[in-house]
Amino acid sequence: MFPQDIHPITDHLVNQKSKETLLGQRGAVFWLCGLSGSGKSTLAIKLEKDLHECGFYSVVLDGDNLRETINQDLSFNDRDREENIRRIAQLSKLLSSNGIIVIVSAITPKESFRIKSKEIIGEENYYEIFVHASYEKCSKRDVKGLYAKADKGLIQDFTGKKSNFEEPQKAWLTINTEEDSVLESSNNLLSKVIVEIKN
Ligand code: ADX
Repeated sequence: MFPQDIHPITDHLVNQKSKETLLGQRGAVFWLCGLSGSGKSTLAIKLEKDLHECGFYSVVLDGDNLRETINQDLSFNDRDREENIRRIAQLSKLLSSNGIIVIVSAITPKESFRIKSKEIIGEENYYEIFVHASYEKCSKRDVKGLYAKADKGLIQDFTGKKSNFEEPQKAWLTINTEEDSVLESSNNLLSKVIVEIKN
């Protein structure tokens, strides 16, 4: 590829502020990270619905959904996970810079991936939410049956088992889904998100 031959049209497009005024909101990215089964998707689904009911326009980018489509070429080794997260971050940036509220739910297991995402999206628009539940708790819930499979050695590089999850140290918000109910967690999340997205 020859970068000098690439000519993005960004400056000719309707600007972010005008789109945000049209939508009556501020574009931002709320990035839910945590173990499989910690409750990320549940909270993402609920947050989208709650925001919709409050008159805000949001889009959910869920790891499983994207791995079925634009990320279907990627595995779960560290390199592919990094690429998975890079693509999700670039998509988030594209949408949020067009005034859309983006809700990401993806394991995002490494601090370096999260730092990169923040860099791509821009610090002022990136809100990291650590959805915390222990491996033992997620394994007991086992909503998708993956923990049982991982125990039998049927899943390569399973997060928390063969592949490490580094707990976020500087999350904007931590939600403990072992202690709080879905309703408590989602109400808490909604109240904090609403403050950030008002235009
Ligand atoms: S990430 O690590 O690259 O951020 P992502 O959120 O996209 O992961 O995908 C995680 C989802 O893929 C899990 O919720 C689970 O449903 C599925 N999955 C399949 N294989 C694995 C694996 N080895 N480790 C973790 N999740 C897996």
